[in-house]
Amino acid sequence: MNGVTGRMGYRQHLVRSILAIREQGGLTLSDGSVIWPEPVLVGRNAAKLEQLAHQHGLTQYTTDLDKALEENEIYFDAQVTTARVDALKKAIHRGRHVYTEKPTAESLADALALARAAEARGIKHGVVADKLYLPGLRKLKRLVDSGFFGRILDVRIDFGYWVFEGDWQPAQRPSWNYRAEDGGGIILDMFPHWRYVLDHVIAPVRSVFAHASTHIPQRWDEQNNPYAATADDAVYGVFELEGGIVAQVNSSWTTRVDRTELVTFQVNGTEGSAVAGLRGCRVQHRATTPKPVWNPDLPVSHDFRSQWTELPDNDVYDNGFKTQWEEFLTCVVTGAEYPHNLFAGARGVQLAELGLRSAREGRRLAVEDLA
Ligand SMILES: NC(=O)c1ccc[n+]([C@@H]2O[C@H](COP(=O)([O-])OP(=O)(O)OC[C@H]3O[C@@H](n4cnc5c(N)ncnc54)[C@H](O)[C@@H]3O)[C@@H](O)[C@H]2O)c1
Repeated sequence: MNGVTGRMGYRQHLVRSILAIREQGGLTLSDGSVIWPEPVLVGRNAAKLEQLAHQHGLTQYTTDLDKALEENEIYFDAQVTTARVDALKKAIHRGRHVYTEKPTAESLADALALARAAEARGIKHGVVADKLYLPGLRKLKRLVDSGFFGRILDVRIDFGYWVFEGDWQPAQRPSWNYRAEDGGGIILDMFPHWRYVLDHVIAPVRSVFAHASTHIPQRWDEQNNPYAATADDAVYGVFELEGGIVAQVNSSWTTRVDRTELVTFQVNGTEGSAVAGLRGCRVQHRATTPKPVWNPDLPVSHDFRSQWTELPDNDVYDNGFKTQWEEFLTCVVTGAEYPHNLFAGARGVQLAELGLRSAREGRRLAVEDLA
């Protein structure tokens, strides 16, 4: 597991996924056999790795990636994005199964080369698609599958919150995210998520228009030094999906939250609408839709939020990162196809690359099928 000293690698992948699987006694397959993950922590700083290992009762850690690849079956990558391609290439070349954070690369060419190499080598390959496992999105998918919406008209994704500049309050995200030269930028960070979310939950993405901004040009890093923020920190996107569905997708690190969640997904259809967040999902059916009348002379008479019905859970939702790890490990052991693979990862990078180009050129671009 490379990059476990980082935010995602430590919290979601090591602690909430791999260690949690061990705490539950491993992962039991349908034939009764048990998968027991034995993590080897890989990184650049031996002291940090030793401390992490010690803290969690683990014994294996190393700064020698080649040696780790020689001795282990699966390579996992949660490093900074710029370090990913080289490490994945090495792992694939050695014939190790690979599982990785997104984006898989900074360019479509690199992302596709990784996917093709993995396929040619006959290994299992997987890419994190955590948002699909959020309870809110699973409820939304359930609604789509049930036909609740009738004909879907449009989708509005509103993602974001204020990320502090780092001067008088430390920033809550690593500074590389705000430097284009270090793999930063909200398009490269978020468009890979929106690609698999829209493709899987609503309909395939067919075109993209993106307006990107760097609203905050100077930020302060982890050492409190000022730096030039060269990457986009907000992007205002319009995607066309198959069937004429329009998705408006705002992603911003420079907005203040007036929503029930840090991300909301509103879907409007002829028969009803829904608003999903990370956990919840509320609906309003055509038959229960109130009739507001536009009249600026009168105070608002509707309590709009109360006109929606919260969906029941009807299920137990485990941590999404852990659930996806369990699926990937099962595929490695049983040999089954893994759907969220490096080709799916490449589709995410494709949307990011087109988004950046659209923003530069100021025009709408078609999203070609990668098949
Ligand atoms: N799935 C998600 O929701 C999600 C959310 C946030 C980030 N991510 C992805 O996870 C990856 C890591 O993001 P993070 O927020 O955990 O970052 P982070 O800065 O907290 O961690 C980065 C890790 O990479 C290591 N690293 C290796 N080479 C490095 C180098 N040259 N410079 C700096 N660090 C280096 C660091 O030691 C650290 O372990 C990114 O690719 C990011 O896109 C995914």
